[in-house]
Amino acid sequence: MTPSDVKATLSFSDGSPSMDLPIYKGSIGPDVIDIRKLYAQTGKFTYDPGFLSTASCNSKITYIDGDKGELLYRGYPIEQLATQCDFLETCYLLLNGELPNQAEKDEFVNRVTKHTMVNEQMQFFLRGFRRDAHPMAVLTGLVGGMSAFYHDSTDINNAEHRKIAAIRLIAKMPTLVAMAYKYSIGQPYIYPRNDLSYAGNFLRMMFATPCEEYKPNPVLERAMDRIFILHADHEQNASTSTVRLCGSSGTNPFAAIAAGVACLWGPAHGGANEACLNMLEEIQAMGGVSKVGEFMNQVKDKNSGVRLMGFGHRVYKNYDPRAKLMQETCNEVLAELGLENDPLFALAKKLEQIALEDDYFVQRKLYPNVDFYSGIVQRAIGIPVPLFTAIFALARTVGWIAQLDEMIGDPEYKIGRPRQLFVGAEKRDVKPIGSR
Ligand code: SDX
Repeated sequence: MTPSDVKATLSFSDGSPSMDLPIYKGSIGPDVIDIRKLYAQTGKFTYDPGFLSTASCNSKITYIDGDKGELLYRGYPIEQLATQCDFLETCYLLLNGELPNQAEKDEFVNRVTKHTMVNEQMQFFLRGFRRDAHPMAVLTGLVGGMSAFYHDSTDINNAEHRKIAAIRLIAKMPTLVAMAYKYSIGQPYIYPRNDLSYAGNFLRMMFATPCEEYKPNPVLERAMDRIFILHADHEQNASTSTVRLCGSSGTNPFAAIAAGVACLWGPAHGGANEACLNMLEEIQAMGGVSKVGEFMNQVKDKNSGVRLMGFGHRVYKNYDPRAKLMQETCNEVLAELGLENDPLFALAKKLEQIALEDDYFVQRKLYPNVDFYSGIVQRAIGIPVPLFTAIFALARTVGWIAQLDEMIGDPEYKIGRPRQLFVGAEKRDVKPIGSR
């Protein structure tokens, strides 16, 4: 952080002493006003529910320019990573700060590949769940449960433990997500294979059965890999902030990542891809494109509580660059599967076209986000709707780990402990129950 020669001066109209606050510059993006001494010097807190104007940390991992619709992982534009790299290269970049050379990549891929199996006991852990449980409920349990299996990598303050836990989590998430799926449909688990790519292995564990050979379709394998890249990290979003706050207590990495899985499940966050597809299916059932106008009126009616899922973003006030790439992937997959006329895709494109011309959305700078097309492409690949967010969690695990590792490695970090503006009852005495 570079101290700016500009200071912020806080003055009070009641004559309280004013206070100079240092300003720091990052390498790109908004400067920050350092308020760490504010309470000690003024007895006042800042107030920022939802953290609309709060930087919770300094980070080198991901940068988003919401106005330009730009997303950089360690400085590299998402458009370049999604078209010139694969997911494990992107994992290496997010974890280490640089793209790997061939030898580094081979070593990393080999380490991940050799950790894709899970402890055989975990299949019995799954049996404790109802088969019709939501996959995110199961995944939250499985990831948290990893701390009950991998005791030798749970000391978050031990860099070696964090490294092993990172490899285990990246390697085992596809296996766990596929196991949750197989368990829900009553099919046997499919073990990972070391001769397949990360995405190919996942597709095979999801869709193969012991009864016949399964060869991943290369177009779907590439699409899956790109979906992982697009979801890998995204600055201090709700689930990443959850992981940081959870990890700041010194809990083990698996528990912190399980907290991220739980947070991501929400429909305002990672659960939006499932909610978006359900919304498209609902409009389709109402009559499809001819009913879009009626649906949009509901969206614009505040009392309806209806939102255009997959649209809008706290940071992007321009097109989410991931949505563009996701739409391209959608085109490729639908063409490969002969589904170019997929009615939901046509409906989504119609919704987008109307929304981008409609004042309500234009004024509020609401554009498609990563979740708008991801559901359509995953559904075309054959992934059941309730599993969409589990796949988002699979991909985001590397981002959560990289952010957690950065925090733990920051000498300035301490346990997160926000304060509040208290508006409740002032001190009062308990009355005996007879006189209440
Ligand atoms: C993700 O943070 C991240 O980076 C998240 C993520 C990641 O990679 O980690 O990018 C992943 O979570 C993407 C977002 C997925 N969520 C959805 O698609 C759900 C639908 N979108 C929204 O609920 C909403 O847009 C949020 C939650 C994403 C952002 O909400 P904000 O920034 O808190 O904005 P807001 O709710 O205050 O909305 C501002 C205005 C409001 O209208 P007014 O009160 O000003 O009149 O826009 C309206 C909102 O009513 N609005 C919408 C809308 N989103 C916002 N109206 C209709 N449909 C929508 N989708």
